[in-house]
Amino acid sequence: MADTTLMDKLVSLCKRRGFVFQSSEIYGGLGSVWDYGPLGVELKKNVKDRWWQAMVHARDDIEGIDAAILMHPRVWEASGHVAGFTDPLVDCRHCKNRFRADDPRIKGTPGQPDAQCPVCGSKGTLTEPRLFNLMFKTFMGPVEEQAAVVYLRPETAQGIYVNYLNVLQSSRQRIPFGIAQIGKAFRNEITPGNFIFRTREFEQMEMQFFVKPGTDAEWFERWREWRMQWHRDLGLAPARLQWHQHGPDELAHYARAAFDIQYQFPFGWQEIEGIHNRGDFDLGRHQEYSGKKLEYFDQAANERYLPFIVETSAGADRVALTLLVDAYREEQVEGETRVVLGLHPAVAPIKAGVFPLVKKDGMPELATALYHDLKRRFPAFYDDSGAIGRRYRRMDEAGTPFGITVDGETAAQRTVTVRHRDSMQQDRVGVDQVADYVAERIAGN
Ligand code: GAP
Repeated sequence: MADTTLMDKLVSLCKRRGFVFQSSEIYGGLGSVWDYGPLGVELKKNVKDRWWQAMVHARDDIEGIDAAILMHPRVWEASGHVAGFTDPLVDCRHCKNRFRADDPRIKGTPGQPDAQCPVCGSKGTLTEPRLFNLMFKTFMGPVEEQAAVVYLRPETAQGIYVNYLNVLQSSRQRIPFGIAQIGKAFRNEITPGNFIFRTREFEQMEMQFFVKPGTDAEWFERWREWRMQWHRDLGLAPARLQWHQHGPDELAHYARAAFDIQYQFPFGWQEIEGIHNRGDFDLGRHQEYSGKKLEYFDQAANERYLPFIVETSAGADRVALTLLVDAYREEQVEGETRVVLGLHPAVAPIKAGVFPLVKKDGMPELATALYHDLKRRFPAFYDDSGAIGRRYRRMDEAGTPFGITVDGETAAQRTVTVRHRDSMQQDRVGVDQVADYVAERIAGN
């Protein structure tokens, strides 16, 4: 299967089955903005829930917060985003297209007579590069004046830094400790694309871990290990995960060291999460710009210092896309193509399909009762239309790990068949045990 075809097939499956739709599609869509449908919202929620469970609930040294998207404009001056969160852009005066100045398709030097537009081919029509800030601006209050400019946050991290003292004092944590947050971020990306990989509105799952200076390198290594393991535990193929260390020319202005966890997408190895040693850059800058002391006082050692920060930053949409790409497969079964999303049961949107084999002999009634019973424990789906094979196939495409069929033996023996999505093997399980049977496999895998 050619790689671009895989992405095309995935985009089409996502629309057909209700994972992801283009935003405002009936108006022709909005560039690189996507909406999640009934299955997609469950998939992404499962990703976020697993992250929250691992980062907040399972640990006693991390607290969660949910900061507002809109923040004081000075935050973005302190963070470096107003001055530095920019891409150099060039325009073609002839065809009016716009490119990143480092677009490899541009021949020659933009602004010079030899430069050639990669779209219309005109020479000498490309402007000098101009810096373009990636933050979305909006206005607070009714008057569109400079004083009221606010930004849609381009990362969730800043909401954590400005709340660091509030959380420290209210939770009675001590260093080392972390603050975690999941929320929307916005970037006016110049070269978005690859479906939900790079979008203009997306969700981040970020954690900032505050440590004593000098212990940052060891915490950085711990967090690298834990975060890679989290991705492996999602069921992603280990051979498709790798580390990428940022060289000196790639490091962001705030980072002392940075590693990306990359996944091998059909369009190449790409970042899904970044782990950064940010030193005291963030708290130092917020202390300077706000005029508020942000130092930590270690009572036991009787010392005062500005903590260093180790950050883990992942995109929920990007992890959802990674799961979909990793899970998609086509198989030949009895002369037909079977499309399967082999999602880990814990992240699958629907855990079980419930089917009466035929619409008579009391089977629909038994299946409906079982369906309502299962729905109290986990998302399930009832389907009585079409041949049983077709119903199984529909659930395979949705990534549903278990298909439960009520058949002629159910009434007398109080048993059903449980079909496993990946092996297509069937087990006979007691009606009263089937909810536990599925629940154990969701939790245990
Ligand atoms: N606070 C650090 C930070 O924001 P980043 O490398 O710019 O670092 C972290 O972003 C993660 O956020 C990325 O690894 C990616 O998963 C996600 N992300 C960033 N930009 C994105 C975009 N335009 N669309 C979707 N996800 C994005």
